Amino acid sequence: MNQDISIIILAAGKGTRMKSDLPKTMHKVANREMLNMVIDTAKQSNPKNIAVVISNEMEQFKNDIIKAHVGLDISFIVQHERKGTAHAVQTGLQALSEVANKVVILYGDTPLISANTVAKMVDKLEKSEICVLGFHCYQENGYGKLVIDGHGNLNKIVERKDATDAEKKITLCNSGVVGVRGQHIADLLNKVDNKNAAGEYYLTDIVGIANANSLKASFIETDEEEVLGVNSRFELANIEEIKQNQIRKKMMDLGVTLQDPKTTYFSFDTNIAADVIVQPHVYFDVGVIIESGVTIKAFSHISQAHIGKNCDIGPYARIRPGTEIEEDVKIGNFVEIKKSKIKKGAKVNHLSYVGDSEVGQFANIGAGTITCNYDGYNKSKTIIGAGAFIGSNSSLVAPVKIGEKSVIGAGSVITKNVEADQLAVSRARQLNIVGGGKNYHQTKSNKE
Ligand code: UD1
Ligand code: MG
Repeated sequence: MNQDISIIILAAGKGTRMKSDLPKTMHKVANREMLNMVIDTAKQSNPKNIAVVISNEMEQFKNDIIKAHVGLDISFIVQHERKGTAHAVQTGLQALSEVANKVVILYGDTPLISANTVAKMVDKLEKSEICVLGFHCYQENGYGKLVIDGHGNLNKIVERKDATDAEKKITLCNSGVVGVRGQHIADLLNKVDNKNAAGEYYLTDIVGIANANSLKASFIETDEEEVLGVNSRFELANIEEIKQNQIRKKMMDLGVTLQDPKTTYFSFDTNIAADVIVQPHVYFDVGVIIESGVTIKAFSHISQAHIGKNCDIGPYARIRPGTEIEEDVKIGNFVEIKKSKIKKGAKVNHLSYVGDSEVGQFANIGAGTITCNYDGYNKSKTIIGAGAFIGSNSSLVAPVKIGEKSVIGAGSVITKNVEADQLAVSRARQLNIVGGGKNYHQTKSNKE
């Protein structure tokens, strides 16, 4: 269903207060760039096209952003001079392949806006030419104020700098999110001037201009939290906290137990099935999928991995990118797994590093086993067969294959392939010297 919507995202801000080399909207919340979050939301209204108004510094990120949203018609345009929000929208209009029936303007630094709110704005544009998203703020603030007449119509928006004392007392504020009918938008913007306290072309002026031209402006309200913007690292952290709380709530609603929700960190794309238990202090980096019945024990860190049903992970496990863990697997404490496939029922219970490996079904990897996957130049693979038993503190020097049901003696350094059912031991033979211990002590104590 194409709703005939164009979306313009303003992201030409300098972000000076972030004190960063990275443009502000490229900073992440729940491991997603704020601008990509806004585009994710925009996407849900099935827009015809999206234009992003950017500064020069953003140019280098264009391709990555396009790649992050396959199938969307996104174009970018640089606003060379910041002349105000009306000028920014005018710039954005030039980048749209076609201006749809309804145009919604979002900010790249206001990432918590929901698709539901955008949908409500779009609905309102059925019966009015402009719809503004407002919210109540009861403290002193720098927001534009919505001036509503006795009939509940939106007459104009006054910017704080231009407001009278009476207008400054208005608590209904402008979020910046605005919807405008496509057929009127260019005309309205053309009529905006910069004769105001800031000397800027205010987008907000189109409300008064619309009214003067017998067009109707409406508004809807939301909570301040949804339209909070980011100007500093402190505000970024605040938005992160709100977003994390939203994801935690969503996870619990889906049937995931979070024993101490405030200590569980998620990414925007974390995908967890019902009946997974997450103990305190667990971090889910991007690209994680977890099937039902899994327990993730405390202090584990998981990134770009798929964990099958009924696995037991942690405590203190580190599961790194490219890992595929089948069902009923146990990964214990201080175990690091990277780019490996761990098949059904296998156990890697203590203090191990398994990288670039394949571990067969029901194999048992003893404590302290290390796959030596890197020789300083190249990465190589370790293949461990089903039912193999790797004795504790073994080093498997890749490339190497350990056959099915074979046994590796503890403390071995394995450099050659081991066939199925073989026993391999590779370490110095033990020498027991009769009386040697006594002798040792006598020599030592005589010296003292
Ligand atoms: C704007 C609104 C104000 C509203 C507030 C909400 C106007 C005139 N005022 O004020 O009513 O309460 O947002 O946060 O619209 N931008 C550009 N190019 C420009 C100017 C701005 O891309 O030339 C972008 C900024 O990067 C930012 C957004 O537009 O993402 C808003 O601009 P900002 O300067 O923060 O406007 P405010 O003064 O906060
Ligand atoms: Mg602002």
